[in-house]
Amino acid sequence: MELVNSSRFVRDAVNRIAAASVAAGGGPFRLSLCGGGTPREIYRALAEEDLDWKNFIITFGDERCVAPDHEQSNYRMIREALLDRVAIPEENVLRLKGEITPAKAADEYEKLLRQRAGDEVFRHDLLLLGMGEDGHTASLFPAAQALEERDRWVVASEVTKLSAWRLTFTYPLINASRRVLFLVRGDSKRRIVEQIIHGGADCYPASGVRPEDGTLVWLLGQ
Ligand code: 6PG
Repeated sequence: MELVNSSRFVRDAVNRIAAASVAAGGGPFRLSLCGGGTPREIYRALAEEDLDWKNFIITFGDERCVAPDHEQSNYRMIREALLDRVAIPEENVLRLKGEITPAKAADEYEKLLRQRAGDEVFRHDLLLLGMGEDGHTASLFPAAQALEERDRWVVASEVTKLSAWRLTFTYPLINASRRVLFLVRGDSKRRIVEQIIHGGADCYPASGVRPEDGTLVWLLGQ
């Protein structure tokens, strides 16, 4: 686990994503994108890079259960900031369907990933995550049943505090990644990250991200 304090947060994030795509060596680059507000400007800057976009396979670490054009949709934010501006083949953008029944959407996505993974676990080359002020990540919120999931890769989770349903990757899928990169900004979150890194912060869902055979980097910005 590596903690990187960055004074060039967006540039450092873009460089790390670009480097991971180059490391894929011209083969498929499985990249999972996170939602929320922090990554928007990273995705915008990433779209300016000259990368092998045709090799990118895009998944979404979580999604709000809304239509893809809803202002709360992570897909909409990512499409506007990145996908509409680069030449990733449409069939390589594996969208979580927030507009259909949550359980059905989770089942469909699970099946899609398993079809692509064959007998193996679906391993992301790089999986991006944010973290909330309560230590949630993806849509794994404190006390959620989804935190206990050890078999499924994608579940629907009712987030009590938001009175809303979410779709989210689970720890088994997240922790199968070759690289996990947290993108976190702000002093209040910094304190949570430091607690997680020093251990004993199991109350925070982000502390459950521990890649089994991969790297974990916390990129902290102002
Ligand atoms: C979401 C995200 C969520 C996000 C954190 C941090 O759907 O909101 O996936 O996990 O990463 O809430 O959000 P900010 O980056 O906006 O603080």
